[in-house]
Amino acid sequence: MDFSRYWAVRQKKVDAALDRFLPSDKTKPTTIHEAMRYSIFAGGKRLRPIICLASAEVINGKSDSALPLACAVECIHTYSLIHDDLPCMDNDDFRRGKPTSHKVYGEGMAVLAGDALLTIAFEIAALTKPAPRYSPAAYIRELAQGSGTQGMVGGQVADLEGEGRKISPAELRYIHENKTAALITSSIRLGAMSANATPKQLAHLTDFGQSLGLAFQVIDDILDVTQTTEKLGKSAGKDITAQKATYPALLGLDKARKEADRLTARARAALKPFGRAAQPLEAIADFLLKRES
Ligand code: IPE
Ligand code: IPE
Ligand code: MG
Ligand code: MG
Ligand code: MG
Repeated sequence: MDFSRYWAVRQKKVDAALDRFLPSDKTKPTTIHEAMRYSIFAGGKRLRPIICLASAEVINGKSDSALPLACAVECIHTYSLIHDDLPCMDNDDFRRGKPTSHKVYGEGMAVLAGDALLTIAFEIAALTKPAPRYSPAAYIRELAQGSGTQGMVGGQVADLEGEGRKISPAELRYIHENKTAALITSSIRLGAMSANATPKQLAHLTDFGQSLGLAFQVIDDILDVTQTTEKLGKSAGKDITAQKATYPALLGLDKARKEADRLTARARAALKPFGRAAQPLEAIADFLLKRES
């Protein structure tokens, strides 16, 4: 398969849909809409929306039913980045190759842009058509759980509380499973739900998402050590300065890389029951392992 074309086509589709779903920057109050659009269109990979669409495609060969959910998870992800970068959290000046939201709009407006993206995510998700097995409430619950205190926010809490402390492998795993893998898993589950996946199919894709999501954060930690700020579009080397709990800090780079390999292999194994239909998801797992940004 032509992977870069596969990715580019879906990225374009997601960007066009986000442009439709978000209020224009002429809509009052204009500053907040400008700030929301600034971060959303700053140039993210769109991993979460693309795996949401890809997951629907594995189930029924189509992805249109998943488009509002794909945009909703990208809004939540972007809000999490705006807040993650605030001076009271990771204190970062660059994101997606541009100055962070608070650098451009000030801290107050950056907090509000995050709030607004989180809120609009649910408004957009509510546009999803019910599938025979999944009610609109099921989508909303999935989105809330993946991003809330027993998902992404919970992981961010542990990440902050882990700074400067020596933590166990189990604690580190908890941080990464929640701050990153939870929303990635929900993205995959939501796509599958919109395509009316059976409980069994959903369970296999959940396994895939958990391993892929954990691998993704291990790789993010590795890239923070090995890549340049330019390549990443966000400041490199910041985890050591902030004394963050990371896989390279706990295991060293070599073992961290081996862990990413192992988790990617585990993610791929979870796709076996889907046969050839899972080829795009397999390619995504391989791409994420080899990524340099
Ligand atoms: C960065 O996510 C934050 C993490 C959870 C590691 P991405 O690497 O997907 O960031 P964008 O969306 O491409 O900017
Ligand atoms: C971010 O983890 C996780 C979330 C934003 C939920 P990091 O703090 O490692 O992400 P980067 O490296 O700033 O993108
Ligand atoms: Mg962080
Ligand atoms: Mg950060
Ligand atoms: Mg990081």
